Amino acid sequence: MTERDIDIAVADEIQVIRFTRPDKKNAFTGAMYDAMSAALDRGDKDDGIVAHVFIGSGGVFNAGNDINDFIRRSKDAGGEGIPTPSLNFIRRLPNVSKPMIAAVDGLAIGIGTTMLFHCDLVYATPTASLRTPFLDLGLVPEAASSLTAVQRMGQACAFELLCLGEPFNADRGREAGIINAIVPAADLEATAMKAARRLAAKPRGALMAARRLMRGDPAALSAQIDAEAKVFGERMRSAEAQEAFAAFFEKRPPDFKKVRDKS
Ligand code: COA
Repeated sequence: MTERDIDIAVADEIQVIRFTRPDKKNAFTGAMYDAMSAALDRGDKDDGIVAHVFIGSGGVFNAGNDINDFIRRSKDAGGEGIPTPSLNFIRRLPNVSKPMIAAVDGLAIGIGTTMLFHCDLVYATPTASLRTPFLDLGLVPEAASSLTAVQRMGQACAFELLCLGEPFNADRGREAGIINAIVPAADLEATAMKAARRLAAKPRGALMAARRLMRGDPAALSAQIDAEAKVFGERMRSAEAQEAFAAFFEKRPPDFKKVRDKS
């Protein structure tokens, strides 16, 4: 399956989900989310798919949600704030039954970082930069990252990434336990595909059973996603978020002082 901004193809039992929107830093639109959800759903149902590989293009993994598309769709989100395509994708992440591998070159912003906590293997290039500017947008973390980040790297590191908004470069991401290995950009895709092929060669039943045991009950993550979504929706309607979005569109720094009393 190929769409303009995303390319999804299965070969040798591996589903490669490639973000092909480099002119917009591969920012996710609703259509891209829908395509990813459909691909993951297909992977769950298809015995011929053993693993998924997420990869960007143009030296970027993903710049988070497409802010224009996100704001437009959030108005139709039934009060939850997070648009339906994004929320459907996020809700699916803890429940995906096949291993997920990410190949991260360059920027991974917002969901581009938080989805990594749901991946089983993450390979990155030296230019990888993981960033979660949720607070700078007047928002809160999503995709269960308020739980997964703390579980993965402890409160101190998680707070630095999620709340201080400190970019984590590849070395920091590896130290924090998010990234498995750092490889040259020219070797990134081959490295991720090699790992996927190694998984495909394992005894299938044992692989899936081991993964289920390691991931545990996804209910806690699902509950966290719903709790975050509720607050996220409230924050979307806040004066802080309105100011942050206006600043993005006007290509200027936000002035949160002027909205402090209105939030
Ligand atoms: N949503 C919509 N458009 C985006 C985008 C996003 N998240 N990220 C980048 N773009 C667009 C830019 O508006 C620009 O479009 P234009 O060429 O039509 O003006 C294009 O992608 C290139 O981005 P630009 O800002 O010129 O590149 P840069 O290298 O100077 O900066 C980023 C790249 C990603 C650091 C910067 O674009 C950015 O901060 N984006 C927003 C990230 C964000 O907050 N994401 C949401 C997280 S929830």
